[in-house]
Amino acid sequence: MTASLATSAALEPLLQAVPFPCVAFCSSDGAMVAANDLYRRDFGALAGHASRSGLRDSLRTSDIDIDAGREVRAPHNGRWYSLYWRSLALDGRALDMLTAVDISESIEVLDSHKSRQEKLLFTSRLMSVGEMAATLAHELNQPLAAIVNYLNGSLRLVDQAGGPAQVERALLAARTQAEHAAAVIARVREFVRAREPRRDAHDLATIAGTVLELLRLEAERQQLAINVSLADTLPPVYADKVMVEQVLLNLVKNGIEAMREMDPTGRDLSIEGRVNLDGEIEVRVCDRGPGLTAAEGEQLFSPFYTTKSDGLGIGLAICRSIIEYHEGRLFFEPREGGGSVFGFTLPPAEGRT
Ligand SMILES: Nc1ncnc2c1ncn2[C@@H]1O[C@H](COP(=O)(O)OP(=O)(O)OP(=O)(O)O)[C@@H](O)[C@H]1O
Ligand SMILES: [Mg+2]
Repeated sequence: MTASLATSAALEPLLQAVPFPCVAFCSSDGAMVAANDLYRRDFGALAGHASRSGLRDSLRTSDIDIDAGREVRAPHNGRWYSLYWRSLALDGRALDMLTAVDISESIEVLDSHKSRQEKLLFTSRLMSVGEMAATLAHELNQPLAAIVNYLNGSLRLVDQAGGPAQVERALLAARTQAEHAAAVIARVREFVRAREPRRDAHDLATIAGTVLELLRLEAERQQLAINVSLADTLPPVYADKVMVEQVLLNLVKNGIEAMREMDPTGRDLSIEGRVNLDGEIEVRVCDRGPGLTAAEGEQLFSPFYTTKSDGLGIGLAICRSIIEYHEGRLFFEPREGGGSVFGFTLPPAEGRT
């Protein structure tokens, strides 16, 4: 003990000269031998500050071992420290010296930089998708209106000539399709024009209903019954309704398209909704298509990536922008038994409206 007192007396002034919190522990029993005022100021409030093991227990979180010397967040003051351990011998005693450098400010700068960068990236993505959608909508609107006009004219002519009935049916079906396309474009235009999306409380069941109605023809043509199974207690989501419809529409369309080549009896598409462990509302669109390889998975979300002769490759890019805007996550995974699952999360409306 006397040796320890002598060592403390010798060490203390040295530690005081260090401009960071600094403490020395005895290597053999881990007891504190000396510390500077900065250490007492920053760590004195920690229950275990007076011994190496106590300090470790107070600072340790599940995945951080302070013995390894690294960044920790001190639980008592919320600040970040970089820890440096050094061994030294004094008066024949082995000591472990710890210096803790406060790096909170650098971490804050890094964090704000990162979130600014993410925001910028996100905005530019949203803007390019928005511009692209605006151009497309504009370019497609004219020919579509003309197609509807020609079809109406042809229907009148067939009617005056008194048939044939098959031609009339075909023309009617073509007009329904053209009107459907025009309705989708009108929505895109509305979405692009409405710079500020309107978020509110919405029921997913209603959103899914609208989407199914839009895809009814396509599903019928593929002899596909789409199952919707939403948890009974699914709370409303906080979202822009048209945007979420757009996302669901794209995902279900992709699912339908993925099963185009397969035998109708094997086709199966379901939309599931539940609250996940984080309390978000999670929607999953599950198909029985060929699924995706890892390489395909990496490119999925890049604009203009498509494997379809009639695809533009912007469906998923738009979905991602929209879901990110809603603070959600867009993901995909293989479906058990074959096929893929494309899903997204949305925050619940509770407390936000
Ligand atoms: N459910 C799915 N199963 C298998 N592959 C898929 C699925 N969804 C998307 N993909 C793949 O990802 C690609 C990109 O999808 P995305 O929706 O972005 O574009 P697209 O469907 O090709 O064209 P569009 O712009 O008309 O949506 C698709 O071409 C397809 O290869
Ligand atoms: Mg698509």
